Amino acid sequence: MPDLDRPKEYWGTRLGVVFAVAGSAVGLGNFIRFPGLLAKHGGAFMIPYLIAFLLLGLPIVFTEWAIGRYGGRHGYNSPPGIFRIVGKKTNRFFSYLGMFGPLICITVFMFYVFVEAWCLGYAWKYLTNTMPSASSPNFVTDFANPFIGTQPGGNGSLFIDPLNNSLIFLVVCFALNFFLVYRGLSKGIEIFCKFALPTLIICAMIVVVRVLTLPANPDIPNANVMAGLGYMWNPDWEKLAKAQIWIDAAGQIFFSLSIGFGVIITYASYLKAKDDIALSALTAAAGNGFCEVVLGGLMVIPAAVVFLGPEFLQSDAVQSASNFHIGFIALPSVFEQMWAGRWFGFIFFILLFLAAATSSIAMLQPAIAFLEEALDIGRHASIAILLFITLVGTYFVVYYTENQLALETLDIWMSTVSIYMLATIEVLLFGWVMGIKKGHTELMHGAHIRLPKIIMFTLKYISPVYLIAVFGFWIWGDIFQDDELVQSITTSIPAQVVIGLILLTATFILLIITDAFRRWERRSTEGV
Ligand code: ALA
Repeated sequence: MPDLDRPKEYWGTRLGVVFAVAGSAVGLGNFIRFPGLLAKHGGAFMIPYLIAFLLLGLPIVFTEWAIGRYGGRHGYNSPPGIFRIVGKKTNRFFSYLGMFGPLICITVFMFYVFVEAWCLGYAWKYLTNTMPSASSPNFVTDFANPFIGTQPGGNGSLFIDPLNNSLIFLVVCFALNFFLVYRGLSKGIEIFCKFALPTLIICAMIVVVRVLTLPANPDIPNANVMAGLGYMWNPDWEKLAKAQIWIDAAGQIFFSLSIGFGVIITYASYLKAKDDIALSALTAAAGNGFCEVVLGGLMVIPAAVVFLGPEFLQSDAVQSASNFHIGFIALPSVFEQMWAGRWFGFIFFILLFLAAATSSIAMLQPAIAFLEEALDIGRHASIAILLFITLVGTYFVVYYTENQLALETLDIWMSTVSIYMLATIEVLLFGWVMGIKKGHTELMHGAHIRLPKIIMFTLKYISPVYLIAVFGFWIWGDIFQDDELVQSITTSIPAQVVIGLILLTATFILLIITDAFRRWERRSTEGV
């Protein structure tokens, strides 16, 4: 019998949940963040990336689907509620750990929706033929940077002329996201993902075919598609000695698959008890991998190499750009030089926008579910609270745009460090608290495929050791020896504001959990 006596929502169709989970996964991570990391680390990146996919990504995907459906069967849809059920019901410690789910989703949304707005803005500019010429030497300083406010002195600049920069597009993105979640799970999220995912894949294939048929650039030595592919696949072994490449790879796997956010847990909790999860999980993860390595990898890096040359990827502009920024400063020059580049630019940025939108709505759902079941309020009330919190947070990201310090601080602490921590918690919860045997039974219940036992062994022993080792090396190497991260918190006001924002949101969530836990416990003992 479910613990929580609330009206239950379900996905409309079995395929709908696969589309929604794949949609949550396929996003800016696949088409902008992944090529950005490839550009920084070179081919060496693919080795830790593939290892992290096999030893962490795939096992954690199965974990999230399994504990999500299990929690949903007991009436819970948010990570704090589900962790309570998976852990010991009377131990509130597990619910408190679950707070990372809504916290990560809310805080990542605060900057993710802003980048989504840049994509929509660029798509609009290409469509209406108002994109300034990227071959002008001042393209970045006169257009790209002011459009997102990242120029020196850019703090607050977007509010000065909001109709002529990305702010207007941010308003549209906010409205679209909240409209879709307001429509509900099957009528909003599911329908949108069923339309957006195939559309964006078709758009991506069009751009890939265009890129792979580009002739070599006669003006720059080695500027051809093969050199672009070589940049991605020829490893520079020495780079593997740095912890950063391993944490970046694991972080990218988590970010890209949307694991460690609580998104899949929440989505899977809306499945029916007998629905398959094993095959659905595999399909969604494979679909995401295809979009990232095949589509994302074949589009951006080879195109940049052909038009800008391999040296460009090693330049300071690229190496020091934020993971998200790079596509917006480098790619317009690529489209400018391409035949019908205006239309390929439009197709590329509209596909990015669709990919981002299917991911950002996914970040809202765990937070909505949490507010609903923890405060015992309806969907609309919880959407209103969430709208308020995200508007306040996004305001600071949009205000502190100079060098993207606010965005970068959120990206590092929430989309890399915190999702890493939540993923570790989930693995330990599944492998050691729920127990691997019970976990395996849950995973196989209603399954359309059989999973090899090695996955369970990996989950119990290899994934936790891997996670803790990489995290330990990162703390040792990056926090103690290269204190740039720590310094940014002690010296930069935007970073301090953002950390304050994260702590405030975390406190709010913890207070709600404390109150909710009492009610959940009472209901359990009363047998509601
Ligand atoms: N998984 C989402 C992305 O890749 C967050 O952008």
